[in-house]
Amino acid sequence: MLPRVTDGKGMRWRRDRISAVLYDVGVKHQRVAAALGRLLWGSDVRRLYSEQHLLASLPEGSVVIDIPCGGGVAFRGLEPGRRLAYVAVDLSRALILRARKEAARRGLGSVRFVEADVDALPFRDSHFDLCLAYNGLHCFASPDQAVSEITRVLRPGGILRGSTVLTGQGRRQDILIRLWTGLGMFGPGGGAGELRSWLSDAGLSRIQVDVTGAIAFFSAQKRGI
Ligand SMILES: C[S@@+](CC[C@H](N)C(=O)[O-])C[C@H]1O[C@@H](n2cnc3c(N)ncnc32)[C@H](O)[C@@H]1O
Repeated sequence: MLPRVTDGKGMRWRRDRISAVLYDVGVKHQRVAAALGRLLWGSDVRRLYSEQHLLASLPEGSVVIDIPCGGGVAFRGLEPGRRLAYVAVDLSRALILRARKEAARRGLGSVRFVEADVDALPFRDSHFDLCLAYNGLHCFASPDQAVSEITRVLRPGGILRGSTVLTGQGRRQDILIRLWTGLGMFGPGGGAGELRSWLSDAGLSRIQVDVTGAIAFFSAQKRGI
């Protein structure tokens, strides 16, 4: 059992700008992220980048939430001028600022940014067609509550896609997870079975979990189209 984080919601991400920015610089450089993914987690993280292109195939008018958006890695597949409502949400003001700059650099003026806690999203029920939640669940204080809140704001039939670090995939990786949990960058997290439970308990079906090293890429759909 990994230690529970007691440092309050959002933990260090909200306060520690340097760690947040260092993470963002790494994840935005695909080769660095690929090397670190292999080295730290034994994972092939290329899917994080290939899935960005799925945004290009969404129907016009789709409503998308990206939580946690971090510095804006997931919306790189958005094309300027595309008629989508894209809302990028994070608890860290420093990362939202970086994400805003990233969007401006890419001509994505329509992306809306919201500073909010995943446990209490300021959106009405059943609002979004798609939720992107990359590299988030292992950082949240209550991943089960986060999935349930994300599911609340998804419309019936809406899709959740994301990735998360898993416990129990290897001794070395569990040591790293303990280290980051102790530093307040990771929350309690969970293994592949817990991830499946968070998704199904929240009312999601068609659950797919693909594990690469200590990282899982997952997708699921809200019931009741
Ligand atoms: C590892 S980063 C992932 C960011 C981005 N999805 C990516 O892949 O680069 C984790 C993010 O979770 C955010 N975060 C942590 N706790 C949060 C919470 N309770 N609500 C919203 N965002 C949170 C952090 O600020 C940080 O941006």
